[in-house]
Amino acid sequence: MVSVVVDFRRAREVGPVRRRTFGSFVEHLGRCVYSGIYEPGHPTADARGFRRDVLDLVRELGVTLVRYPGGNFVSGYRWEDGIGPRQSRPRRLDLAWRSTETNEVGVDEFLAWCREADCEPMMAVNLGTRDTASALDLLEYCNHPGGTDWSARRAANGAPEPYGIRLWCLGNEMDGPWQLGHRSAAQYGSLAARTAAAMKQYDPALELVVCGSSGSAMPTFGEWERVVLEEAYDHVDYVSCHAYYEQHGADRASFLASAVDMEGFIDAVVATADHVAARRRAARRIDISFDEWNVWYLSQEPDRKTDDAWPVAPRLLENVYSTVDAVVVGSLLITLLRRSDRVTAACQAQLVNVIAPIMTEPGGPAWRQTTFYPFALTARLAAGTVLAPTIDAGTVPTDRYGPVAAVDAVGTLDADRAAVFLVNRSPVEAATVQLPLWSELPAQTVTATTLGGDDLDAVNTLHDPLRVVPSVNRSIRLAGDCVEVELPPASWTAVEFA
Ligand code: AHR
Repeated sequence: MVSVVVDFRRAREVGPVRRRTFGSFVEHLGRCVYSGIYEPGHPTADARGFRRDVLDLVRELGVTLVRYPGGNFVSGYRWEDGIGPRQSRPRRLDLAWRSTETNEVGVDEFLAWCREADCEPMMAVNLGTRDTASALDLLEYCNHPGGTDWSARRAANGAPEPYGIRLWCLGNEMDGPWQLGHRSAAQYGSLAARTAAAMKQYDPALELVVCGSSGSAMPTFGEWERVVLEEAYDHVDYVSCHAYYEQHGADRASFLASAVDMEGFIDAVVATADHVAARRRAARRIDISFDEWNVWYLSQEPDRKTDDAWPVAPRLLENVYSTVDAVVVGSLLITLLRRSDRVTAACQAQLVNVIAPIMTEPGGPAWRQTTFYPFALTARLAAGTVLAPTIDAGTVPTDRYGPVAAVDAVGTLDADRAAVFLVNRSPVEAATVQLPLWSELPAQTVTATTLGGDDLDAVNTLHDPLRVVPSVNRSIRLAGDCVEVELPPASWTAVEFA
């Protein structure tokens, strides 16, 4: 058992908890939309065809923001296909996922769903096969009050009031050779700058996200961000980061330390954005939208390039998550919270069925994957100001990242409550954490909830949906002027002071 001190008495105030940290992502991919959020014949479906069982879980998950409609899908998407009477909407090939898109769900349905789910929409425009003009048309369709062709069409399609979408993505992963319309950083930067300038000419209050790298392992990483931002800096508000993690072979220690990579990624992008700002003498800072992050067993995805069936809503990327995957998700959220100074929006990819915390069976139930729990608990408990404590912990050796701190932590403090989120990254050793009480702490009661420790490979499934649930950590106790709690090996814990 290692002894660890997590001390908030001289904690660094990072800034406010950003509600947009708890974003998610709905892409037209596999069964995320069809038989995910939308299934008209389902016993719980509402009048619009949205599954109410899924909506309930989305609310319980605490999702605040939802990116849509992709992802790789958006780079071939014609948004006009998804509006108007359903019977006249065309079926199209979706080249990104080698599927057939029926267009039964489009922007109006998605935005109605967002209202029901109480989430802010984050809309992506297609800068792969399309350009500024189609982005402006979509903006006019969504946000213009009335008196023009597109706004009149929206009203005729059942939405007289404008949607008022503030946050927009300028394409998706344009650095990736797999992306439809993939181009060089200079070409994309110039297109993104022109499109952003035009969108802001309509409404300067829009918040625009330019594509950063689709991963820190991309050969163009760093230089891509620099060149794109040199082009687009004055017109955009965010640069995106995407990162997915998985356990490689038996190397659990490195997997548990995935957040070390995420933190380095954030540092590098912040440094690059600030470097461009310095060269331009710009006082305004660009923030990070970490709009795709998760555990994803990408290396196990079958190659579908030769699949010529073009199915509708096939079962794709339906990763079944284990306890240890959930511990890593919890630790990634600790990093995102601790970097709330510059990461002011984030989307876990994705929401339902596709590398998702929520799974569904067509015509059947919906259930929570293991990864549901750290997200839901963090979204519910984190409030007020983010605090970065000093942490005195030993290290764990990892093949990928060298020695890393065995325990990582972040806290949040509000007027009447506080929360501390902890991860023990050692695959083998338990830790006793001492949390010295600090003066601002509203400590009437303290409780702890833990996920992990044993049965790290256990999963939740259709037939055993509650196999993995977080449990009350009964080790928590007051010891003098400290709270002490034991963290099992490979575990994630939320401590709640109320
Ligand atoms: O989230 C799955 C896919 O991962 C997205 O479509 C793409 O943007 C990323 O490569």
